[in-house]
Amino acid sequence: MNTPTYLVIGATGKTGRRVTDRLLAGGHTVRAVSRSTTPRFDWEDPSTWPAALEGVDRAYVTYMPDLAAPGAVEAITAFTSAAAQAGVRRIVLLSGRGERSAEASERVVAASGLEHTVIRSSWFTENFTEGHLLDSVLEGVIAMPAGAVREPFVSVDDIADIAVAALTSDAHVGRLYEVTGPRLLSFAEAADILTAATGRDVAYVPVTSDEFRAALTEIAGPEYAAMLTDLCDEVFDGRNESVGHGVEEALGRAPRDFADVIGAADVGVPA
Ligand SMILES: NC(=O)c1ccc[n+]([C@@H]2O[C@H](COP(=O)([O-])OP(=O)(O)OC[C@H]3O[C@@H](n4cnc5c(N)ncnc54)[C@H](OP(=O)(O)O)[C@@H]3O)[C@@H](O)[C@H]2O)c1
Repeated sequence: MNTPTYLVIGATGKTGRRVTDRLLAGGHTVRAVSRSTTPRFDWEDPSTWPAALEGVDRAYVTYMPDLAAPGAVEAITAFTSAAAQAGVRRIVLLSGRGERSAEASERVVAASGLEHTVIRSSWFTENFTEGHLLDSVLEGVIAMPAGAVREPFVSVDDIADIAVAALTSDAHVGRLYEVTGPRLLSFAEAADILTAATGRDVAYVPVTSDEFRAALTEIAGPEYAAMLTDLCDEVFDGRNESVGHGVEEALGRAPRDFADVIGAADVGVPA
């Protein structure tokens, strides 16, 4: 195939948008999909999948709301099978680090017979600047059930660089990249960096799982609150207190540092 079509799922999201932009800049043919695109792609509605998959050679797959959510492994199983039937040759899966249920989806993709690469990612730095923690940053209080645990926050720009490399080059087929930033930071240290970069006081307030779940239920409903609380309980128990080397392995360079990414981000002007 001379001009493969690349499918990007979650194409308006933090990594999907960057993967789409990089592929388009490289002159590739991209079908960028989410629930708000044409064709529409909805993980909860498999009838939307065939139109998105038609004529696709390679796919960047992000599952929403999270591979740790109930039903994720079943959806990834059904999607992988639909993709193979539609003639897709390669899948690059974005996965979560330390999540047992995400590892089940990784195994599905690895056993699919398709060319595959897994990007197993720690928490995104950009959660604080364009994700679900931006409002907390702007309000000056990051309340998380993370105690004093340290996390090697990774930039979504590094993830997008790896995803594009894995989609466009054969060198990453069959690889699993454990992708983190270059250093461990507690949420309190992250808050200090956010304070220095934004000029506004940002404090980390450790909360219990029950407090976190109750507050999130008000904002996002009980299902999402339960899923994210369980995920935090799982990954903030110290299992991820180490740096991975996926960025160096995939790209031959160091990952972006949290402080540099935060310093360059446009945070501080409420919408
Ligand atoms: N955030 C982290 O720290 C982190 C770390 C490791 C792995 N991950 C993984 O990263 C993935 C995406 O996270 P993110 O934070 O980048 O998300 P995000 O920025 O909120 O973007 C989500 C994207 O998915 C689309 N979407 C939402 N619901 C959908 C559905 N039912 N069907 C199809 N598309 C849907 C959204 O567009 P529409 O609203 O238009 O549909 C959007 O394009 C998840 O699989 C998560 O497990 C996240």
